[in-house]
Amino acid sequence: MTEMMPQMTPPTTTSPKKLFIKTYGCQMNVYDSDRMADALAPHGYAPTQDMAEADLVLLNTCHIREKASEKVFSELGRLKELQNEKRAAGSDLMIGVAGCVAQAEGEEIARRAPMVDMVFGPQAYHRLPDMLARAESQRHMHPSLKRAVVDTDFPQEDKFAHLPAARKEVTISRGLTAFLTVQEGCDKFCSFCVVPYTRGAEVSRPVEQVVGEARRLAEAGVKEITLLGQNVNAYHGVDGKGRSVGLGELAYLLAEIPGLERLRYTTSHPRDMDAALIAAHRDLDLLMPYLHLPVQSGSDRILKAMNRKHTAADYLALIDTIKAARPDMALSGDFIVGFPGETEQDFEDTLAIIRQVGYASAYSFKYSTRPGTPGAALGDQVDEAVKTERLARLQELVTSLTNQFHASMVGRTLPVLIERVGRMPGQVGGRSPYLQAVHLEGGAELIGAIHPVEIIGVSTNSLSGRLARAAAA
Ligand code: 5AD
Ligand code: SF4
Repeated sequence: MTEMMPQMTPPTTTSPKKLFIKTYGCQMNVYDSDRMADALAPHGYAPTQDMAEADLVLLNTCHIREKASEKVFSELGRLKELQNEKRAAGSDLMIGVAGCVAQAEGEEIARRAPMVDMVFGPQAYHRLPDMLARAESQRHMHPSLKRAVVDTDFPQEDKFAHLPAARKEVTISRGLTAFLTVQEGCDKFCSFCVVPYTRGAEVSRPVEQVVGEARRLAEAGVKEITLLGQNVNAYHGVDGKGRSVGLGELAYLLAEIPGLERLRYTTSHPRDMDAALIAAHRDLDLLMPYLHLPVQSGSDRILKAMNRKHTAADYLALIDTIKAARPDMALSGDFIVGFPGETEQDFEDTLAIIRQVGYASAYSFKYSTRPGTPGAALGDQVDEAVKTERLARLQELVTSLTNQFHASMVGRTLPVLIERVGRMPGQVGGRSPYLQAVHLEGGAELIGAIHPVEIIGVSTNSLSGRLARAAAA
């Protein structure tokens, strides 16, 4: 990254102030960061990619595991230095902490990091301009009188109705694919997880709001939308007639949007994979055959302790039903190793379910105690060294399955949404239906459409291919 000199010209009232947002954690935070940028644009803030030239830095934080929240405090240390440098040079830097760490530790951050001007949780983003105005009014106060503006309430009003919808400019800067949050929060209360506390109870956006935003994205050139939610397949938005609509039915409505070619959604809970959603996978070509469906563990004892409310056999039966509807469905999962009380046998049950499902990809984590969750009160913690060793074994298995999955594509012709120029000159890159990165020789004119690509090789995390001429019409 290049170091920028401090701005030579002092900002005038007409020049826009610069906003830098650093996003941690999940894709929902990526979506939220864009919405925060949209909300601040009418108040004179233009995004910058260079933190050093920012007038306002927002950290959009993640609290899911211990390491994720620690990163925030070390970033705040670095920001303090930047703020001091700027003040010495006669300008200033405002700092806001948003996201799930802010929600969980609002007052604590304000106390530990007094240079922070605003601390606010995910349910307060639509109030950001107002918070900023309040924080700005304190800017010239003596430090001993300054207090961070803290907003970690869960309001009754609909934040999405008050936030600007995804804008064309933002969309274009993200290219041909976009995220769209349709559901937020979670009522599942898995015993390891902070999400029900930081994001709150499950809330679904109304159907017309979602369809309207998807339509605007498609009109702006977006070909692929990923619907987001902590528990996205629990979606139950209200339609114009006051009826509750599930994710399956929503998919059929989105399939009608001209120009929209691909639809994905993440993250799902096995208990919410209902018949309507599975039928949508059978019927709709635009619904991609790649499903992130975490099971976390293959041991019934641990699943029970995790409060997942299903067994390993329930999960395997569900996968069978899904594959009966969509035989080429590729699966992805999340796994936690070293949940309190996990024995070697429990862990081997996890390896067994991974082998049985044959995941195309998986994310795996060492269990990390989150304050306030039921898991934090459990005894029988697993040794860190054991967690490390189990994680390595699990990841070795997943890597070999991922490699097998990629290798099974060689010789096949896949529809690839070409999204960008490649790393090498003369190459372009995109994604297969199974979310694999694919690169091939070709010119920029290929970008923006789905092309048939014959897969000819596999490297660590991507496939290589060549343009397959569509059969003569
Ligand atoms: N420790 C480790 N992993 C966790 N996850 C959620 N909470 C924890 C925790 N306390 C993982 C789960 C979840 C993913 C987003 O993060 O696997 O699916
Ligand atoms: Fe967390 Fe479980 Fe809800 Fe997923 S389903 S967000 S793991 S509580």
